[in-house]
Amino acid sequence: MTAAATRAAQLRDQLNHHAHRYYVLDAPEIPDAEYDKLFRELQAIEAAHPELRTPDSPTQRVGGAVLDGLAPVRHAVPMLSIRTETDTTAEGARAFDARVRRELELPADAPPVEYNAELKFDGLAIGLRYEHGLLVQAATRGDGETGEDVTQNVRTIGQVPLRLRGDAPPLIEIRGEAYMRRDDFERLNERQRAAGAKTFVNPRNTAAGAIRQLDPAGLADKRLSFFAYGLGEIGGWDQPATHSATLDAIAAFGVPVSADRAVVHGAEGLVAFHQRIAARRDALPFDIDGVVYKVNSIALQQRLGFVTREPRWAVAHKYPAQEQLTRLNGIEIQVGRTGKLTPVAKLEPVFVGGTTVSNATLHNLFELRRKGVRVGDTVIVRRAGDVIPEIVGRIVEARPGYVPNFRMPKSCPVCGSAVQREQGGIDHRCTGGLFCAAQRKQAILHFAGRRALDIEGLGDKLVDQLVDGGIVRTLPELYRLGVAKLAALERMADKSAANLVAALEKSKRTTLARFLYALGIRHVGEATAKDLAAHFGRLDRVLDASEAQLLEVNDVGPVVAKSIHTFFDQPHNREVVEQLRAAGIQWDEHDGAAAGAPKPLAGLSVVLTGTLPTLTRDEAKALLEAAGAKVAGSVSKKTSYVVAGAEAGSKLDKARELGVPVLDEQGLRRLLARGP
Ligand code: IVH
Repeated sequence: MTAAATRAAQLRDQLNHHAHRYYVLDAPEIPDAEYDKLFRELQAIEAAHPELRTPDSPTQRVGGAVLDGLAPVRHAVPMLSIRTETDTTAEGARAFDARVRRELELPADAPPVEYNAELKFDGLAIGLRYEHGLLVQAATRGDGETGEDVTQNVRTIGQVPLRLRGDAPPLIEIRGEAYMRRDDFERLNERQRAAGAKTFVNPRNTAAGAIRQLDPAGLADKRLSFFAYGLGEIGGWDQPATHSATLDAIAAFGVPVSADRAVVHGAEGLVAFHQRIAARRDALPFDIDGVVYKVNSIALQQRLGFVTREPRWAVAHKYPAQEQLTRLNGIEIQVGRTGKLTPVAKLEPVFVGGTTVSNATLHNLFELRRKGVRVGDTVIVRRAGDVIPEIVGRIVEARPGYVPNFRMPKSCPVCGSAVQREQGGIDHRCTGGLFCAAQRKQAILHFAGRRALDIEGLGDKLVDQLVDGGIVRTLPELYRLGVAKLAALERMADKSAANLVAALEKSKRTTLARFLYALGIRHVGEATAKDLAAHFGRLDRVLDASEAQLLEVNDVGPVVAKSIHTFFDQPHNREVVEQLRAAGIQWDEHDGAAAGAPKPLAGLSVVLTGTLPTLTRDEAKALLEAAGAKVAGSVSKKTSYVVAGAEAGSKLDKARELGVPVLDEQGLRRLLARGP
């Protein structure tokens, strides 16, 4: 009995430690299978001794009862909102700083005010109440005075610790935002689409709906995340003197705090932060609708106080909206690389998410029907991150007259081949294969893409000309293009022709992973291509691998294995591969993972920031990964090195703050050559 209790406590500690590494730091120390093993061991002990089931046991995250309703929770400290500065230009930040200085009655020559600048997350505000380190309640904001008890649902968020790390105070309520990452949202919608089910509108609504739902089963497929940004009620704890130090303390308790924050001075510091984040907004893995500035000193915050329900010491400074209304002018069909027919909305151009959008995807016929959009409707367009703009819905209003429902064509609008839909499938496909010019064009564009063979200058206009003119019919034919033939094309200067020939020449030196990805095998994305290359090491081994051998590769399941095997089983595909090799495409081969290539940097976690003088970010990442290092997105105490180039931002500040060693490109090369 005592042995079981001791072991259970040990397992809880270990599992909570690894959950923190995995969910919060994004730097796991053990493989998933090992975690699962420990988890099952704890489950078995708890099944045999139910009295050992503690509220902070990781087995207790999921599976509560279906609720009748959410119980009200009275906030001891009201959950306020912040004033929004809608002027999206730099003036918004200057106006806030001027107001703070006026209200603090600072003379014109007083030094600049210190602020903490952070992101404005787009999700649902949540307060997490910890008593003696144990999560006892999670509540929504509600009307600010009274929220709703959502403890059961919040417990399922892996990033929210069930027990705080370190020396936790008797009482601390940590406030922040529950949100959904864009990739988790896209994956959820991919699955919905594949199942022919209703898709979700945007990450914010999905996260908010998930947190407030009564049946915990509905959360199983929705992975949520959390960022802390402040405090509610505290007891028996000396809060640090600044907001930035408070966030550091919260992070040390094991609760995620975004690394994209900075202590800045005066209006110009705020403006610089606003601009720096604006430039990176699309590259962030989650939606933000602005940034938040807070007076950093808690004493000054107290002096400034509140007006009605909003603090005078904080403001939200917005960015242009990621959803806008516009008119649907028409629907066209696009034929993709795999022959898939996608209905594309032709829109009245609209400024959304920082660019002008005039096309948006409608994904497939079923989704188009479900959204009920017809030509002439006012529709909601969403563009967030580098995701292609899409139509998420329409405004219901009277239609001027009869508008026919959209139908999929029976034959391919590009090549005239028959259009088919797989039995029970969602997608319509052109059956023309590489006979279809659209599929050929897309195959070439994919091959030339930045993450594939990276042939600079081979854009869609040029590919149109090459394919429509019958100049390039197969991928290997690209390498037979000469300057003379190219320069004869319309709008092609001699110099651009020479540049393209040089780019083609340069692309011949590549990696096996890029080459495999470039071939455009169905279901083989960049990650799978990397896994294949690491596993097999040589192209011939991939070519001749059986489905069973392919299944041994990390993350390759039956569908992917079959797709790869079928691809290389086709004589014409093998011929394309042979011709590409004959054209001079080459890479370094090795004996595959089985032979255990040396991994001098295994176990290190490295963060890249800024622009390096000669290496691109992708190149630096590939070199580090090849040496066994993990490339992480944010800096923490566990980061081994930060590699910083020009215009490095908050990650560099963070590294210095935490004392993480910082390398330049030369330092990186030294590390790669000599090891740590
Ligand atoms: S501070 C007293 N910081 O924006 C200040 N709020 O109206 C309380 N939000 O729904 C809020 N990111 O959930 C703060 N970094 C951030 C935030 C943030 C998002 C949300 C918050 C609330 C709204 C404020």
